Amino acid sequence: MHDIAVFGAGYIGLVTGACLAQLGHRVTVRDIRPDRVDALRRGEVPIHEPGLGDLIAGNAERLRFTLDAEEALRTAEVAFVCVDTPPSASGDADLSRVWSVVEDLRGAPRLTTVVMKSTVPVGTGDRVRVALDAAGMGHVGYASNPEFTAEGTAVRDFLNPDRIVVGAADQEVAALVARLHRGIDAPVQEVSVASAEMAKMAANALLATKITFINEIAAVCEATGADVEEVAAVVGRDHRLGPHFLKAGLGYGGSCFPKDSRALRAIASNCGLPLPLLGAVIEVNDLQARRAVARVRSELGGLRGRQVALLGLTFKPGTDDMRQAPSAVIAARLLSEGAVVTAWDPMAPELTDTPWNQVERKDDVLAAVADCDAAVIVTEWPELHDVDWGKAAEVMSTPLLFDGRNLLDPADQAGHGFTYMSVGRATARQC
Ligand code: UGA
Repeated sequence: MHDIAVFGAGYIGLVTGACLAQLGHRVTVRDIRPDRVDALRRGEVPIHEPGLGDLIAGNAERLRFTLDAEEALRTAEVAFVCVDTPPSASGDADLSRVWSVVEDLRGAPRLTTVVMKSTVPVGTGDRVRVALDAAGMGHVGYASNPEFTAEGTAVRDFLNPDRIVVGAADQEVAALVARLHRGIDAPVQEVSVASAEMAKMAANALLATKITFINEIAAVCEATGADVEEVAAVVGRDHRLGPHFLKAGLGYGGSCFPKDSRALRAIASNCGLPLPLLGAVIEVNDLQARRAVARVRSELGGLRGRQVALLGLTFKPGTDDMRQAPSAVIAARLLSEGAVVTAWDPMAPELTDTPWNQVERKDDVLAAVADCDAAVIVTEWPELHDVDWGKAAEVMSTPLLFDGRNLLDPADQAGHGFTYMSVGRATARQC
């Protein structure tokens, strides 16, 4: 059992803190937002992450929350850095929150090891090392321990990972970080700090590339009559390729892939390397949601004065996270073409900024699509399987359904009376 301070009570920090407590460690999570810390102290979980609430409640005696860095570090041997690293104006990751945590670590009485969980550019570990040394903390070890957890399955991913990656210059530090994960059945890959940092960025870039590749194939399928779902199923059966991240759709969103792919490109640019493959991935992904709007516009013969419903707003189902969600691009594009936009989502928070201040939110799907000329499935919420689509087609002005996630069956939807468009599959029309 170790005494651990976790800096950051966001998606990564809370999951890391709760899972480390579950593994038997004593954990203090520190955040700078009073509302967040107050909520956590009251037993409320400020983010939606399946299983997280139970984990926090079940480990309450080993889990504390504080605003005070000194309190978090009073007895801590290990500090996990789990703050966010949002994009800066140049596309490089903004590390200001990381540096402010490194500042907070000064003078921590029992600290032996700093563990970086935040996604940081390769080379950051070396810079943190220099900063620790300069602050008189030469005795404190440093490790990079990137996370590979996806929102919506983060607790499961943390406790059942494919691998635990530990990047450290010092064997004892690496062994300690590996020991912190005792109880998790997964291989530990010990590598250099730089390789661990790079591996995280490379993994996200390759996943983003796989998604983008299948989205490009989908566009060719649309033009040639092939069906991307059938194509992906065949391709994915090749054990060298695998079935995952071959789901064509509206492009990747979320807090990780868009930011990390741009940050990796920025790192390469800073070294004078162009990285054309990743550049193309970013470009193709940026087009994907716009292509959907163009296809709806072309089908309707224009968007001015047309009413369009967005079904699903979050960047993927099972989360309330709106960061880099394709829905924002689609809503903004529709509005700028003169369309009226309504929306339904079971979990997205109340949204008041642009473009959402011009979008009328409805509590159920039928209300959202009523009198609409088109409905666009933006997020593949399972609830959409239970919609009475026959009724939905009836209450719409023009029964046009654009399924941006290939969630539904084309023949079924044509049977309900829809003109049913999707990604990489032929448009199905009522006979
Ligand atoms: C992603 C990675 O999957 C995690 O391994 C990583 O740890 C995390 O980023 C991070 O860097 O912190 P996340 O962004 O939560 O996790 O979500 P994913 O489930 O990977 O989905 C990302 C985006 O890709 C979503 O917009 C999703 O709709 C899209 N996607 C995913 C597709 O369009 N097609 C697919 O086949 C898979």
